[in-house]
Amino acid sequence: MYTQKTKAKFDSLRGGNPTVMGIESSCDETAVAILKGRQVLSNVVASQIEIHRKYGGVVPEVASRSHTDVIVACIDQALSQANLTLDQIDAVGVTYGAGLIGALLVGVSAAKAICLAKDIPLIKVNHIQGHVCANYIDTDLKPPFISLVASGGHTSIYQVNGYNDYQVLGATRDDAIGEAFDKVARLLGLPYPGGPQIDRLAKQGKPTIKFYKHDKGVNSDLSLSYSGLKTAVVNYIHNARQRNEEINVPDVCASFTAEAVDLLVSTTVEATKRSGLKTIVLAGGVAANSYLREKLKTEGERNGFAVVYPPLNLCTDNAAMIAMRAYFSAVENVDYADMTLNARPSL
Ligand code: KG4
Ligand code: ZN
Repeated sequence: MYTQKTKAKFDSLRGGNPTVMGIESSCDETAVAILKGRQVLSNVVASQIEIHRKYGGVVPEVASRSHTDVIVACIDQALSQANLTLDQIDAVGVTYGAGLIGALLVGVSAAKAICLAKDIPLIKVNHIQGHVCANYIDTDLKPPFISLVASGGHTSIYQVNGYNDYQVLGATRDDAIGEAFDKVARLLGLPYPGGPQIDRLAKQGKPTIKFYKHDKGVNSDLSLSYSGLKTAVVNYIHNARQRNEEINVPDVCASFTAEAVDLLVSTTVEATKRSGLKTIVLAGGVAANSYLREKLKTEGERNGFAVVYPPLNLCTDNAAMIAMRAYFSAVENVDYADMTLNARPSL
């Protein structure tokens, strides 16, 4: 049974500086971290990349089993690195969506077990909002701001009005940008995950190929789309192979990156202009992309905006960002969850 006493403990965290454990298992990283306020005490990430590489992408069932194998060891390691015991944790925040159902359930079950055993509050965390919160870690960033979240599963522009107030301004109508990076890389025979490989090769090439022209510029509803560009690159590669023409891989990488990123950056700048806000915050796995980081900084600053992004290790999936998101829920007393919490794959 989850008790009234636990809810009272949650209420008592309001306005304080709690020690929060974060648990993340939505895709292919099993991660556990502990934060005291905005300060990281430990940040453990067990990546499954090597396991999935031979399949060329994440196999959901394999991911779930692998999370089950390592989650307890990750929790133990996070506690020992932080030099704490479970009795010193004030609350546990867990990713409950979006993500792969079986994978999410491992983290949610582990978090519930800890909270039930120790009678401490459970906080539900939206993975995408977690990515944004990577930018609060060890910084003094304050809302409001505009945030671009670009990852393997999401491409969205948010107006973040407060620590617990997220408003969607625009999003992709189809594929996520990271998905497009991974698909193009796979076709080029590059290992999974393809994003970092394309990033590396693009630096050696020139953006000379026009795959798919966005002649209309920024969409008035601030929406984005990646399926057309993805298909155009796929067709380009297939056609070249059929004609036995050599593909200049660095040029394909540089051209695809420029087309994928340029419209994303102009759309984010346009959203920021409309909002009247002055800060752009980048987040998500694709925030590690060097061209995106540089382009957003240049374009943002040219328009008078401050541009902020997390260190590389906090761009891709980790639990420090999940603990950070949960911390704000705890101190503002929202998103408390009980033992009926379920995973929400398409949150
Ligand atoms: O945020 P994340 O770890 O997982 C999701 O929530 O989806 O993002 C993973 C995505 C993958 O598609 C990966 O290829 C991409 O981020 N990525 C990159 C780079 N590093 C990771 N894409 C482009 N350039 C990079 N340097
Ligand atoms: Zn993610």
